[in-house]
Amino acid sequence: MQRTRTQVAIIGAGPAGLLLGAILADRGVGFVVIEHRSREHVLGRIRAGVLEQSSVDVLESLGLAAGLHAEGLVHGGIFLQHEGERFHVDFEALVGRTVTVYGQQRVQADLMAAHDALGSTVLYDAADVDPADPEGEPVVRFVHEGEPHEVRADFVVGTDGFHGVTKTRFPATLVRTAERAYDAAWLGILADVPPSTDELIYALHPDGFAMHSMRSPSVSRLYVQVDPDERIEDWSDDRIWEALDTRLATPGWTLQHGPITEKSITRMRSSVVSTLAHGRFLLAGDAGHIVPPTGAKGLNSAIADVAMLGAALAEQSAGDDAALRSYSDRALERQWKVQQFSEYMTDLLHVPGSAVPDDEREFRYRSRLGRLRYVGGSRYAQQSIAEQYTGLVIR
Ligand code: APR
Ligand code: PHB
Repeated sequence: MQRTRTQVAIIGAGPAGLLLGAILADRGVGFVVIEHRSREHVLGRIRAGVLEQSSVDVLESLGLAAGLHAEGLVHGGIFLQHEGERFHVDFEALVGRTVTVYGQQRVQADLMAAHDALGSTVLYDAADVDPADPEGEPVVRFVHEGEPHEVRADFVVGTDGFHGVTKTRFPATLVRTAERAYDAAWLGILADVPPSTDELIYALHPDGFAMHSMRSPSVSRLYVQVDPDERIEDWSDDRIWEALDTRLATPGWTLQHGPITEKSITRMRSSVVSTLAHGRFLLAGDAGHIVPPTGAKGLNSAIADVAMLGAALAEQSAGDDAALRSYSDRALERQWKVQQFSEYMTDLLHVPGSAVPDDEREFRYRSRLGRLRYVGGSRYAQQSIAEQYTGLVIR
């Protein structure tokens, strides 16, 4: 048995866990990261691609923004579209802020490189990860390279995602989960073709939602709404391009096609736990909450959580635990503002699922069309979207 001690044991080496480690390193707080998958698997996950201004500011403050400044695509707004009518929401004109398109995999790679340079202890391929004793002397037991380990820590932070283990150590009587399941899913593709637009397009169409995003000047990222129980095998490349052509069509504009290199279906749900803290165990990122991808808030919420938690742990280490005691309330207050925005954008842009009765389906579609047309004509509505899309203040 290898026994070690640290100030903070971080479970999960996704963006939340590695960014928390980077913040703690910057503040001189000792930590270890324990990850149960391989480094290659973690790096290989294809996820979101938009960083809020608030997230860029966090990465910049830690000296971790060189990659996103070199390769990221700064966007001053987004396009919203309904039945072929496209309008621009100009973030810079409305709120003086931007977003940066920079794939989560790049953020992950930058964070891994930073920890390599720091010589951080990030243990991949850990098995049987077992955090225990949140109200006493926190300990994390696991097996690594065939040897049993026991890490004792002042605090254990679960950045282990929606299906992580840390949350399961919170008493069931303490933690409630608020959930909403959506009657839609996203079929997403990566295609080796230059984007047909310079900024993201979110489109509402009677057939369903579609979006045009991108990963680089030569790689497009696109999505179409499908029913939650759709199978990817039923969606040929031609069927996907046909749906995208139909739903994104607007006069004078053509969607460029190219080889599809990746396709997958992701269900959509909202879920938030009632507390991110129990004893000396804390949660951050997807471990505490998930959102539908429409508002591009999953990665940005994780960054906001660990920006607050990292500062609070550093202050606690220096003898002031006020910020740590209020972390859960502050992070969840901000998260519910993010949840309502993600829900608003999802309801705004998706047609009701095929299981909804026709007359209700028609009403709900027409109501969304009316809401989208109102947004198209209102600077005030657009300013609200711009303020939330580019990121609320993290404090
Ligand atoms: N022990 C150790 N590691 C674990 C365990 C466990 N029991 N369970 C999960 N993990 C690891 C996962 O392998 C993953 O690498 O925790 C990490 C959690 O990372 P994410 O799921 O990416 O969550 P987070 O870091 O909060 O980032 C949120 O990632 O999933 C996307 O859409 C999400 O963009 C959002 C962002
Ligand atoms: C993406 O590029 O993957 C992306 C962008 C914006 C979203 C969701 C996904 O709202």
